Amino acid sequence: MIDLIIDTDPGIDDAVAIALALGIADVNVIGVTTVGGNSGLEHTTRNALRLLEFLGRSDIPVASGYDQPYGRDKQETGYEPVHGHDGFAGVDLPEPAATVVSTDSSAFLAEKIRGAQNPVTLIAIGPLTNIAHLVDAYPDVIPLIHRFVIMGGAARTGNVTPVAEFNIWHDPEAAKRVFASGLQTVMVGLDVTHSVRTREPLWEWLNSKGRFGEVFNGLIGPYTDFYSSFYGERMTHQHDAMAMAEAIWPGLMTSEAAFIDVETIGELTDGMTVVDLNMRKGQLPNGFVTWTIDGDDFHDRLMGAMNQLATNLGY
Ligand code: BDR
Ligand code: CA
Repeated sequence: MIDLIIDTDPGIDDAVAIALALGIADVNVIGVTTVGGNSGLEHTTRNALRLLEFLGRSDIPVASGYDQPYGRDKQETGYEPVHGHDGFAGVDLPEPAATVVSTDSSAFLAEKIRGAQNPVTLIAIGPLTNIAHLVDAYPDVIPLIHRFVIMGGAARTGNVTPVAEFNIWHDPEAAKRVFASGLQTVMVGLDVTHSVRTREPLWEWLNSKGRFGEVFNGLIGPYTDFYSSFYGERMTHQHDAMAMAEAIWPGLMTSEAAFIDVETIGELTDGMTVVDLNMRKGQLPNGFVTWTIDGDDFHDRLMGAMNQLATNLGY
């Protein structure tokens, strides 16, 4: 059993990642924190609350964190075409009855980490703003985090610029702060998430799952439209669910120890993760970069967990 804390900016692939975690019996989700990223904090928080409620888990406490990046003014993301004006492609989910238990994500995270009954895995699938503030405010909790997994960065590519991935690019100073914090980071970046194409037919089972299917089809359809405009086929990259899979099943991906840092001043390279596999400057590794995954196995686990969740909910 692991105690899992999810820091997220829902976000369509975030929603899929959360559903994956909730479909696995020996994962105990002890808290969710929200951050600005795919959409503004107001939207990402509302989305987290209404998604958890829809999935029958309004018992999971949600705390909101930061909308503004850690070290600079908010950049215009231009990412509305991916996640829609509200972060959830306008999907029809009722307003949440629950509200956030706190607007101080750092205090909430510290309390959850200190109080956990099982080894804590913290996964961040949005910009690292909340985590940077956590390590500033409560450095004593760093050694209490058993595993820290992020979706972000890449050793060899980018998706916002040729070299910068969205979650890092959105708040590079936060990522730099986190990599320097002493937290060993498992970096699930585009090197691995771009290697798997989740093709549309894999979702066909949703059509027999009533309202559950309607909601997830309503999320995944527009996300697929976005990717097909690039790739010319009906597919998506499930970045956040892939990071979630590595958080739940450590070692699902091949990985390599590395010293990871972030470029924050480069004219062409702002927001790029610089992955040193050879410790050129004599540093000790501060994490692992992930390289490969068995895509079929990932899909079996993802679809299996979501199917189980739908069944548990009576669909
Ligand atoms: C990451 O950026 C966001 O758009 C996704 O939710 C994912 O976390 C992929 O670069
Ligand atoms: Ca995300």
